[in-house]
Amino acid sequence: MKLFVDTGSIKDIESIAALGILDGVTTNPSLLAKEPGDFRQNLKRICEIVKGPVSGEVTATDFAGMLQQGHDIAKIDAHMVVKVPLTRDGIRACKALSGEGIRVNVTLCFSAAQALLAAKAGASFISPFVGRLDDIATNGMELIREIVAIYSNYEFTTEILVASCRHPIHIVEAAKLGADIATCPPAVIEQMFNHPLTNIGLEKFLKDWEKTQAVKA
Ligand code: E4P
Repeated sequence: MKLFVDTGSIKDIESIAALGILDGVTTNPSLLAKEPGDFRQNLKRICEIVKGPVSGEVTATDFAGMLQQGHDIAKIDAHMVVKVPLTRDGIRACKALSGEGIRVNVTLCFSAAQALLAAKAGASFISPFVGRLDDIATNGMELIREIVAIYSNYEFTTEILVASCRHPIHIVEAAKLGADIATCPPAVIEQMFNHPLTNIGLEKFLKDWEKTQAVKA
């Protein structure tokens, strides 16, 4: 399973990439708006750090505008993936950009029917938002189960990028269902490391080792 980080923060991306477990980055307009500097230069730098798929989202809502912005985003770097919303114009733009060999991530997916449309339009990635579904008392992971079944029935090659992951359980559940990718904020990647028994165990190992060293001295 691939692990992406959902952020525009170059500092956070550098620190997670240094761990050697980072496969890609997702951004959205809300995340990029928080970062200083030019968004194109920031995305370029992110691509240089990650050397994997980096999603940059269009803000146009009409087909022509999405195509224009999609071309602009794709030109930033060969690792860039154009993110479009799951609207009629977004699906049309997905089909057109994919036809040109540009990878597209269809975002804001909240139903299996929408995921089917994205796969038919040649999306490289579909982003179902599990956390935002959970927020409205709808089981987000159930949607992942449905999409995994549908894509496997027809051998669609669109990768399932589980988005809006809010905690490590979302990532573990997505992995158990066989989703291709999970994307989450940097803090959730930090949480994945944590287990009190690891800390307690390490402390004991080191204390026991220190004791033998004292006896030898
Ligand atoms: C994914 O591409 C989105 O940027 C992201 O996962 C949204 O997460 P949120 O619902 O926590 O804002």
